[in-house]
Amino acid sequence: MTDEVRTFAPMAVLIDGNALAAEIRAEVQAEVAQLRSEMGIVPGLNLLLVGEDPASAVYVRNKGKDCEKVGITSTIMRLPAGASEQEVLDVVQAWNADPAVHGILVQLPLPKHIDEHRVINAISPLKDVDGFHPQSAGKVMIGLDGFIPCTPFGVLEMLRRYNIETSGKHAVVVGRSNIVGKPLSILLAQKRKPGNTTVTICHTGTPNIAEYTRMADILISAVGSHGVITKDHVKPGAVVIDVGINRITLPDGTHKLVGDVLFDEVEPLAQAITPVPGGVGPMTRAMLLRNTLKAALIAGGKQ
Ligand SMILES: NC(=O)c1ccc[n+]([C@@H]2O[C@H](COP(=O)([O-])OP(=O)(O)OC[C@H]3O[C@@H](n4cnc5c(N)ncnc54)[C@H](OP(=O)(O)O)[C@@H]3O)[C@@H](O)[C@H]2O)c1
Repeated sequence: MTDEVRTFAPMAVLIDGNALAAEIRAEVQAEVAQLRSEMGIVPGLNLLLVGEDPASAVYVRNKGKDCEKVGITSTIMRLPAGASEQEVLDVVQAWNADPAVHGILVQLPLPKHIDEHRVINAISPLKDVDGFHPQSAGKVMIGLDGFIPCTPFGVLEMLRRYNIETSGKHAVVVGRSNIVGKPLSILLAQKRKPGNTTVTICHTGTPNIAEYTRMADILISAVGSHGVITKDHVKPGAVVIDVGINRITLPDGTHKLVGDVLFDEVEPLAQAITPVPGGVGPMTRAMLLRNTLKAALIAGGKQ
């Protein structure tokens, strides 16, 4: 982009997920300290990693480090890839029964021979900090207070903290997974703030997604395919939230993390946009801490 063009296209606001996540961590840290001093409760998150998938191992380690930073106790248990479904269920049941464990996170994906739904269903809904249990999903659906899955929760917080108006706007969400697209669409449509949005959901069954995305005041991509959102998919002045995380190989053989959105060509059109990395990712991690604190407050009878 030349300077000449830039003078006609004001820069989009860069929605800084790292800065917001730091703000949320500081708030959680203060509340954790208060819970500890007032009630003697130290929030505890237990994480289960099954198998040796390197990406999953990094995610779990980072989540443990995040906990440490804010005063939440974390315990990581590793089971070999060949662990049986029953072994995984036994760990979950033991953690359900342990009052020092407030939050339970089973890192997904699990090895193919283990039924993920059965494992998620086994987690106590009171400790479901990932928000994947059907009871949590049901609460999101009918607008009751519960554990909101961390990524949709993080996106809502971004919109809220950047004062992005959602009421009366049209949001187009690309992707309908149970952990991102579907709950986010439902949350945005709820009569609350942020929310009260008219929502369109696109997916692989949508013949021409650009027809819909070009109508979006708020465009959210949760697909997992770099380049699925180009400048031709975006209405000038839209807010663009990129949930996608994709690892691409550059011509020199090195790797880079990128989103779904072609950032360089979309940014000049947008009113506000999230980068990848440094956008939704850190918010997802921060909201896990918030959910774990919530689980500890529930255990302490404070919620
Ligand atoms: N930033 C974070 O913290 C965070 C957290 C979670 C996930 N992610 C990333 O977000 C992305 C989505 O994650 P997910 O778990 O929701 O993925 P997923 O379960 O694979 O779902 C992807 C969704 O995108 C739809 N889709 C795929 N290709 C499409 C296309 N060309 N046009 C329109 N829709 C298309 C799929 O449609 P169908 O339903 O028709 O198959 C599906 O609904 C991934 O890159 C993931 O790594 C990031």
